[in-house]
Amino acid sequence: MRILITGGAGFIGSALIRHLLNDTQHHVLNLDKLTYAGNLESLTGVANNPRYSFLQADISDSVLVGQALAEFQPDAIMHLAAESHVDRSIDGPAAFIQTNIVGTYALLEATRAYWLALSEARKQAFRFHHISTDEVYGDLHGVDDLFTESTPYAPSSPYSASKAASDHLVRAWHRTYGLPVLLTNCSNNYGPYHFPEKLIPLVILNALDGKPLPVYGNGQQVRDWLYVEDHARALLKVVTEGRVSETYNIGGHNEQTNLHVVESICALLDELAPRQIGTYKDLIKFVQDRPGHDLRYAIDAGKIARELGWAPEETFASGLRKTVRWYLDNLDWCRRVQDGSYQRERLGASL
Ligand SMILES: NC(=O)c1ccc[n+]([C@@H]2O[C@H](COP(=O)([O-])OP(=O)(O)OC[C@H]3O[C@@H](n4cnc5c(N)ncnc54)[C@H](O)[C@@H]3O)[C@@H](O)[C@H]2O)c1
Repeated sequence: MRILITGGAGFIGSALIRHLLNDTQHHVLNLDKLTYAGNLESLTGVANNPRYSFLQADISDSVLVGQALAEFQPDAIMHLAAESHVDRSIDGPAAFIQTNIVGTYALLEATRAYWLALSEARKQAFRFHHISTDEVYGDLHGVDDLFTESTPYAPSSPYSASKAASDHLVRAWHRTYGLPVLLTNCSNNYGPYHFPEKLIPLVILNALDGKPLPVYGNGQQVRDWLYVEDHARALLKVVTEGRVSETYNIGGHNEQTNLHVVESICALLDELAPRQIGTYKDLIKFVQDRPGHDLRYAIDAGKIARELGWAPEETFASGLRKTVRWYLDNLDWCRRVQDGSYQRERLGASL
């Protein structure tokens, strides 16, 4: 297949591209605007693969996206480009509305024009796969409740509201225009190449620098953690085998409180990179809770297991160990993100 991936320089998109190029014969065009979250250094291991190409473009730029579609002739689009950080959406929602809602709308329209011009056989086989989040469902209050594909939407943050809006647009483009879409809603991902502002890498890197490890409120917010490479495998299953117009929830069966996640990282670091005095747990600092903070997310991933035979390969213990190891072995990648050189050199190169 020829697969156009939006947002392929981000955390999950780059894991997906590494999976597609290393483990399949598919061809990939990575279309990414390269915002602060886009880092081509996450793709250095595969960038020279002849089945890979890259285009710096904004999904809202219909002309450029239309040209890319006409030239690359994709059999599928996997749409991951988004503004994705909840805290940033609280500080400045505008970019979230622009990219996640207006950008998705523009991409859908460019895709529809391209799709309409395909031959009947290619039209039938074409897929538009929208990658979304479990945060569209709001939070769970019962301890045993799980998000299913029919849980009503109740987003809490500007980020999750913008993702919810984009999900509705994608479904409408199927109902109204017949565009063959698929949707996935996934729980919190973690793993290699995660941008250091997110909880797990932030805690690892702050700990190594001897800085405080911030925990929101009392740290009892529950998230269902999924190793990013398990997510990439699930996405490939859905785009190749999923039923058109269906939604599949993807989760890791790994519910953990934020405090437990931070303590587990501290325990792993105590083993793998011990401090000279004391334990990393001494650095934990409880800070004022995030406004509108959801208490608990947990996914029922039964449908994708039953229909497509997908199950995560990593447990939380095995995935977290791999992740901490990766950060310890790749501090250069992290430092170049932290000091901004990953962006400066890119800007220099394009001048
Ligand atoms: N990270 C998670 O835990 C998680 C969980 C479930 C779903 N998701 C969803 O998966 C997708 C990818 O998440 P991520 O964590 O990899 O995000 P990320 O922030 O790491 O990467 C987003 C990528 O999109 C690009 N981008 C942003 N705006 C763009 C635009 N206007 N045009 C083109 N490219 C643009 C960025 O440059 C970046 O490379 C998002 O849609 C997100 O909502 C993420």
